[in-house]
Amino acid sequence: MSKFVIEGANKISGSIKVHSSKNAILPLLAASLLSSDPIEILDVPLLEDIKVLLQLLSHCGCDVKIEDGKLQITPDIKNGDINVDGVNKLRASILLLGSLLARGKKVVLGMPGGCNIGTRPIDLHIKGLSQLGAEIKLNQGYIEAKVKKLKGAKVYLDFPSVGATENIMIAAVLAEGETIIENAATEPEVVCLANFLNSMGAKVMGAGTDTIRVLGVKKLFGCSFVPIPDRIEAGTYMAMAAMCGGELELTNVICEHIRPIIAKFKESGVKVYEGENAVRVEAPDRILATDIKTLPYPGFPTDMQAPMMSMLSIAKGTSVIIETIFENRFLHVGELVKMGANIKVEGRVAVVEGVKKLKGAKVEAKDLRGGAALVLAALSAEGVSEVEGAFHIDRGYFEFEKNITSLGGKIKRV
Ligand code: EPZ
Repeated sequence: MSKFVIEGANKISGSIKVHSSKNAILPLLAASLLSSDPIEILDVPLLEDIKVLLQLLSHCGCDVKIEDGKLQITPDIKNGDINVDGVNKLRASILLLGSLLARGKKVVLGMPGGCNIGTRPIDLHIKGLSQLGAEIKLNQGYIEAKVKKLKGAKVYLDFPSVGATENIMIAAVLAEGETIIENAATEPEVVCLANFLNSMGAKVMGAGTDTIRVLGVKKLFGCSFVPIPDRIEAGTYMAMAAMCGGELELTNVICEHIRPIIAKFKESGVKVYEGENAVRVEAPDRILATDIKTLPYPGFPTDMQAPMMSMLSIAKGTSVIIETIFENRFLHVGELVKMGANIKVEGRVAVVEGVKKLKGAKVEAKDLRGGAALVLAALSAEGVSEVEGAFHIDRGYFEFEKNITSLGGKIKRV
């Protein structure tokens, strides 16, 4: 079990390139199973979650090769029984249900896992796929599902779930007839998946709006695809520079995707300059308090809540943060408090009374984004910190310590 040892209070400045988005790539991997030909995905950071999903694709029978970020998948489904280790390590494994059903396979799938940030039910996935004609049975610890041929249907989502929207889209592209997903998620990762499916020959329309229309096709073909940049990785590094008094340029950024994040940085006094596929931030003398409410896109992303809280813990004034997406996404609060932050939580609301400086402490990452938030806190704090549970952070931030070191931060993995 590795941990990060961080010597704080060093300026974070310079320029780095943001990687492709983990949460965009995972659905592409699941959707690759739909193609009859080999698929190529470029610029793939080999993060833990991506490695695990690739292992599950190999388990199904696919041939998977990755070299220098270039991923080649030759889809083949010999095995729809994936009640194996790994499924429970990440949430995105549930997307294999949609793709295997679309290929008419009988599926046995372990229960998906992922960060411990709430109960994370799968009812909307099950409801949508059942409406397309799948017979799905939830057993203790695993799911059984089968269908002869999925049929297009109208699916209304009670909540614009990112994963459920993706799963239903994946299932619908080879279904007979038309599927309409109402109250669909509009996140950039959903649009990226639609573009990927369309580049394989699917007919997906309306992604990025709350109504997605999918016209089933008979067959999908190979493609070469570049995923979108990681908007959360970008936001995390922006917060890091703002907290550590630096100037940072990020390349490979789609500013449109981080509009709500940029808005909140500006309210906090951070200077943000938008360029073409790039963004530059300049830290203010003192960060200013601001309020945040997490919402589905284009609202403020829940995945940026923890890094933002870390930043606001050293702001001038009081910030109120409301987490509306996940019910257990404040696990980092207790750890930030150990570093001198003044934060009180009442249900889904955190009140952050800014302090001048945090101080180094021994803390533990309990989930991915909360873990990243602790690294930011440690980089800005006076003294040395130890952040246990580095594996959580490895799930979502590729070459994290290498990037931080190149920007002037002092971080070591032990
Ligand atoms: C995706 O999770 C991301 N994960 C999450 O990123 C992200 O926080 C989340 O979307 C919201 O943006 C991946 O893309 C792999 P949801 P997902 O379904 O799809 C409820 C990170 O740190 N819900 O939109 O699981 C659910 O409980 C991770 O990178 C149901 O009630 O999110 C939650 O309250 C963590 N029933 C809300 O919807 C369902 O069937 C949003 O979840 C499905 C979801």
